Amino acid sequence: MLSQPKTHHTRKILVTSALPYANGSIHLGHLLEHIQTDIWTRFQRMRGHTCYSVCADDAHGTPVMLKAQQLGITPEQMVAQTRAEHHQDLLDFNVNYDNYYVTHSDENKELCELVYNRLNAAGYISQRTISQLYDPEKQMFLPDRFVKGTCPSCKAEDQNGDSCDVCSATYDPTELINPRSVVSGATPVLRDSEHYFFDLPQFEGMLQDWLKSGAIQIEMANKLQEWFEKGLQQWDISRDAPYFGFEIPNAPGKFFYVWVDAPVGYMASFKNLCDRTEGLNFDEFWNKDSDAELYHFIGKDITYFHCLFWPAMLEGAGFRKPTGVNVHGFVTVNGAKMSKSKGTFIKGRTYLDHLNPEYLRYYFASKSSDAVSDIDLNFEDFAQKVNSDLVGKVVNIASRCASFINKRFDGKLSSNVLEPALVAEFQQAQTSISDAFEKRQFSRAIREIMALADKANQFIDSNAPWVTIKDPEKLQFTHDVCSLGINLFRLLVVYLKPVLPTLAAQSEVFLNDSLTWDSLNNVLSDHSVSPFKALMQRVEMDKITAMVEDSKENLEPTKTVDPNSPLAKDPIGETISFEDFAKVDLRVALIAKAEHVEGAEKLLRLELDLGGESKQVFAGIKSAYQPEDLVGKHTVMVANLAPRKMRFGLSEGMVLAAGPGGKDLFILEPHTGAKPGMKVK
Ligand code: 2FM
Ligand code: ZN
Repeated sequence: MLSQPKTHHTRKILVTSALPYANGSIHLGHLLEHIQTDIWTRFQRMRGHTCYSVCADDAHGTPVMLKAQQLGITPEQMVAQTRAEHHQDLLDFNVNYDNYYVTHSDENKELCELVYNRLNAAGYISQRTISQLYDPEKQMFLPDRFVKGTCPSCKAEDQNGDSCDVCSATYDPTELINPRSVVSGATPVLRDSEHYFFDLPQFEGMLQDWLKSGAIQIEMANKLQEWFEKGLQQWDISRDAPYFGFEIPNAPGKFFYVWVDAPVGYMASFKNLCDRTEGLNFDEFWNKDSDAELYHFIGKDITYFHCLFWPAMLEGAGFRKPTGVNVHGFVTVNGAKMSKSKGTFIKGRTYLDHLNPEYLRYYFASKSSDAVSDIDLNFEDFAQKVNSDLVGKVVNIASRCASFINKRFDGKLSSNVLEPALVAEFQQAQTSISDAFEKRQFSRAIREIMALADKANQFIDSNAPWVTIKDPEKLQFTHDVCSLGINLFRLLVVYLKPVLPTLAAQSEVFLNDSLTWDSLNNVLSDHSVSPFKALMQRVEMDKITAMVEDSKENLEPTKTVDPNSPLAKDPIGETISFEDFAKVDLRVALIAKAEHVEGAEKLLRLELDLGGESKQVFAGIKSAYQPEDLVGKHTVMVANLAPRKMRFGLSEGMVLAAGPGGKDLFILEPHTGAKPGMKVK
């Protein structure tokens, strides 16, 4: 491996992603951020910089405490399980932190106390009694989201403690009509308690300067001005017992609000890493005069915490402030908010059950910029982009050349460089591509890399080695063409390595070479390569469909309905557009055959005749029907559902049935006169 050029100066960098809460799974929304962080970290390392990345589970707070209670385990047990799960999910997406820790740790407790004691000593902490809703049954204060009631504005029932979904009004939970505790159902009462406050307004000048220093995207800095215009407020940093968190020093029964110890968790995770890494020094990264760079990758919803409270806490406690806070937007799927009922709220693990993680890394990279706009994961675009860019362009270059090199040229690359100008063009692109990676303009990097991939393919097309290989006189030429093809492929893989670590690792095996940014400055000549193995499969649409199916959850009640109405059990959920509905092809089908499926508890196998065409469907109606009762009946099916591979075979559609389930399940039987294949309107 070549060493890094001695001329450029080595930076010391610490990078973090927001700490996922320990009461839910990693989903595609989280993954955008972790993948962005990981790409940037890998890029910095390839450039020879010293770059550490840390993350952790965010363990504390009321939701974690209550969820553990529901599960009948201690919060510590739940956090340990969730942390392990999160860590594995991330590793399986090739997101490799130097430390994936947890905020419920000794290091974090110590650091929180240190920060707090320093803030207190400097006069930034005060106490004041406030009045809040209290659950007299559960004997705890209720965070806003644990109170529900009737909207004071439009009188809609069952609204959240802080805002109304129906009329969008925002209010204080004490203003709700008929409030009730989500935890116990009891009517909350107002109760006084002493709280601890952090004096944020004292940091206004410092924060304004810091925001102007370029630490944060300009659009976010502008947005934050709204908070200054409203006037910065004292920040309530304490919560009363019972609370899963750290007790505040000299304040029995008072705990740090989770948003105090979470960002300190960045320091604590790094501290834990330092304590077990020779030569890594915590102070070098966190002291006020540190020359290291510190970057936080976060979503736009938590900017307030990272760009106001956190720098103020650091400043007040005598630590350095972040060099940059890199804010990204939300992930939408097929143009809409992720939805559990549509199956677009996709957990990392569900994705991994069906698809290659590198597809997602590539797709997110191709859509990521340094702007705060939301990022849409459109499945068709996803499949199309991965298939055409990665499989059709990049991998194709290698596969078109490698077999000739392997079979005809003894696995050896030529010592001639056929088109030095083309190689130079690939090499010179590094200035612009590194600049794009550095600025987190990953979509620009990808565009530029793919433009080079196009050129490599044009080079191969125009020299057609599959033709010249047949001409003994052109053997050297063919060798040179294929060798250059492999070298161009190699340069592309260097550029893609931060995004596609697995593809890069497999390519390194094939190329017999380890790839760093410096590899861009040479070509492999007279060099042996290994046998070529397929590097990446195409995305198949039916895998995506299966992933979406696996992600569908039953609808939660969202509206209050008459308890006697059938809707009470299964309320109508989100609406869909007419266009969405129009895509569903409903047909009358004749049940030509019906039979039990060996080993299946709920399924019957149906053969449905659509008036010429026949489809096999596995339907979960065994509890309600005997196969012999079904044969000969007409029913209604979704005829254009993407086929789904099930354990027992391929299911090519769905039959429509109504009812709560079990014995009470009724397939739809259209009126006689309906003929198989007829469209249902
Ligand atoms: O919003 C969230 O998911 C938080 N758990 C993020 C915490 S980031 C940091 F401050 F620790
Ligand atoms: Zn309302």
